[in-house]
Amino acid sequence: MAITISRLARWKQEGRVIAMLTAWDYLSAQLVDAAGADIILVGDSLAMPVLGYDTTVPVTLEEMLHHARAVRRGVKNALVVFDLPFLSYQASTAAAIQSAGRALKEAGAQAVKLEGGYEAITATVRALTQAGIPVMGHVGMTPQSVNQFGGFRQQGKTPESSDRIFKEAIALEKSGAFAIVLEHIPAELAQEISTALSIPTIGIGAGPHCNGQVLVTSDLWGLSAWQPPFAKKYLNLREQAITAAQQFCDQVRDQQFP
Ligand code: KIV
Repeated sequence: MAITISRLARWKQEGRVIAMLTAWDYLSAQLVDAAGADIILVGDSLAMPVLGYDTTVPVTLEEMLHHARAVRRGVKNALVVFDLPFLSYQASTAAAIQSAGRALKEAGAQAVKLEGGYEAITATVRALTQAGIPVMGHVGMTPQSVNQFGGFRQQGKTPESSDRIFKEAIALEKSGAFAIVLEHIPAELAQEISTALSIPTIGIGAGPHCNGQVLVTSDLWGLSAWQPPFAKKYLNLREQAITAAQQFCDQVRDQQFP
């Protein structure tokens, strides 16, 4: 059955935990949708394992739209969320509405995600939701700010940082966000935020007390060359894929195939 943002809100009240995964093309979207993911995020994390960039900063709106269109074609049930890439929403509210509108109109996404919870961002969330575009927030270790953080470091470790992240999450809910990703923050902080909010929190590297969990699918499948320490590898597909390709090359050279 198709997942909607109102079902997700109800699940938080009922205590049903949300499973979210990323997808980057038609095939990966078909697989995670068939697996029963509730939300499929066309994450800007595709910048690294799929496009070969060092961080998520360089990926463009056009690149994200190209991938999102393919993902949309592969999804039957999950809610498809489009991750707004760096600089597609920060410059102005008008820019954010244009970018988010393109995600819905051109790629068929049902919601967008953006990073941060400072004042300009919460104003943008309000404008997007008023324009009929559902918004998922994202606080804690927000990868588009990697240059500001000086690396992909855990956030919320000092009282000041923890207090700021807590306030950002509250402000995002007040501005109309329908859910919030909590990334790489202490489990106790994620628990406090999850208890204080009435909208669902979805954790990654944020402990077990969130209302949902998300993983980057290439990490879950063990396809990436590198994974963050909090990502769980359920398969070692990278090694298996290389072995299979090697077997093919050997068999062709030895004239064993076809
Ligand atoms: O881009 C992404 O994959 C994400 C998830 C880690 C939440 O933002």
